[in-house]
Amino acid sequence: MAAALRDMGGGRLVGTDLEPGKVERARANLAAAGLDDLIEFRVGDARETLKPGVGGKIDMVMLDGAFTLYLPILKLLEPHLKPGAIIIGENAFDEGPGYLDYVRDPGNGYVSLPLSLDPGRGNELTVRTR
Ligand SMILES: C[S@@+](CC[C@H](N)C(=O)[O-])C[C@H]1O[C@@H](n2cnc3c(N)ncnc32)[C@H](O)[C@@H]1O
Repeated sequence: MAAALRDMGGGRLVGTDLEPGKVERARANLAAAGLDDLIEFRVGDARETLKPGVGGKIDMVMLDGAFTLYLPILKLLEPHLKPGAIIIGENAFDEGPGYLDYVRDPGNGYVSLPLSLDPGRGNELTVRTR
């Protein structure tokens, strides 16, 4: 994702994880790839680290944390999503209570469908419509 930002000529990526060790590994890998200037890492519970937003409007969200938090995190970020923003819910199958029902209801401002790449894993592609 960070390399794509560089290829597109800009942008910023905010990543957050509960485990400091994972963040340190990601930080080291991105520094080694010369992409660390594009990334901001936040360590802690995403419900807290993302509360202040990300300093601007969001083009894309990749959800790959605790399944039960997919819906609360999406709702937390919702006011910051650009119209047309893309959300990937990695393994967004039934464990994420209410997530699929929410993003598949056009009344909530999304269109959404399961990706056929790895159907058993339940990856969900969602687009913000407003
Ligand atoms: C399946 S792993 C995926 C992590 C990363 N995308 C990767 O590929 O290594 C899920 C991650 O969610 C993180 N996580 C779980 N609960 C969290 C929370 N409340 N806030 C932030 N991160 C959380 C875990 O620490 C774990 O690293």
